[in-house]
Amino acid sequence: MAATATTIDPTPPSKAPLNISRDAITYHPWDPQQEPLQLSQIRKLISKDLSEPYSIYVYRYFLYQWGDLCYIAMHEGKFVGCVVSKLEPHRNVALRGYIAMLAVEEEYRGLGIASKLVRMAIDAMIEKDADEVALETEISNTAAIKLYERLGFLRSKRLHRYYLNGSSAFRLILYLKNHLPPEERGILEDAGCCGGHDGHSHDHAEHERSEQPHDAHMIG
Ligand SMILES: CC(C)(COP(=O)(O)OP(=O)(O)OC[C@H]1O[C@@H](n2cnc3c(N)ncnc32)[C@H](O)[C@@H]1OP(=O)(O)O)[C@@H](O)C(=O)NCCC(=O)NCCS
Repeated sequence: MAATATTIDPTPPSKAPLNISRDAITYHPWDPQQEPLQLSQIRKLISKDLSEPYSIYVYRYFLYQWGDLCYIAMHEGKFVGCVVSKLEPHRNVALRGYIAMLAVEEEYRGLGIASKLVRMAIDAMIEKDADEVALETEISNTAAIKLYERLGFLRSKRLHRYYLNGSSAFRLILYLKNHLPPEERGILEDAGCCGGHDGHSHDHAEHERSEQPHDAHMIG
């Protein structure tokens, strides 16, 4: 999906505090009743890891329509992680979930929080009969790539100069219904106009941007 922002430090070291038990982390769905507090906390957390903060309209676009696919991690009343997602038909052949934003507070990394949040979002998508889940991440973000590959995501394509700062992205896809033939799993794009040529990939990245609100590139 799209966003002008990219991570400042894509592979931060794991800084999990020794005295925090995984059991002390609680996970909650986005609660529209708590919007003022939760929205500002989500923005604060996501903005920390971006070179440019997203407009509030980008957050509202996701949270107002797919708040049930967004989850928050808390520790002793402190907001420590979040995942923001959506689910939509993709090219009339698949129902595609999309991980738009994922971040964990630096000192809470390495505790499995991001994995848990992403699994919760995926489970919610499965309940809604999703065929697949996609996201983009910078090719240099080894922490995120390892995390997603451990969850079963596959590298679908490389998007040349996908972000406005010039860095490239991988599109990662998790196929949830293996029995579907490729053309029904929404992967026609890989054999289609982009065909792996750099120039075309760039054009495709532009096309992908135009599908998203506010011309934003996401850092799922
Ligand atoms: C990427 C990020 C969300 C991971 O959060 P986390 O809660 O620490 O992740 P988890 O503890 O669930 O890690 C799951 C797996 O991811 C991989 N991973 C996580 N952090 C890593 C790191 N710094 N280096 C290498 N692999 C890493 C590991 O395989 C890890 O499993 P393991 O601990 O059993 O080896 C976190 O580093 C972050 O917020 N980064 C900045 C924002 C960002 O890049 N978001 C993703 C955009 S696509």
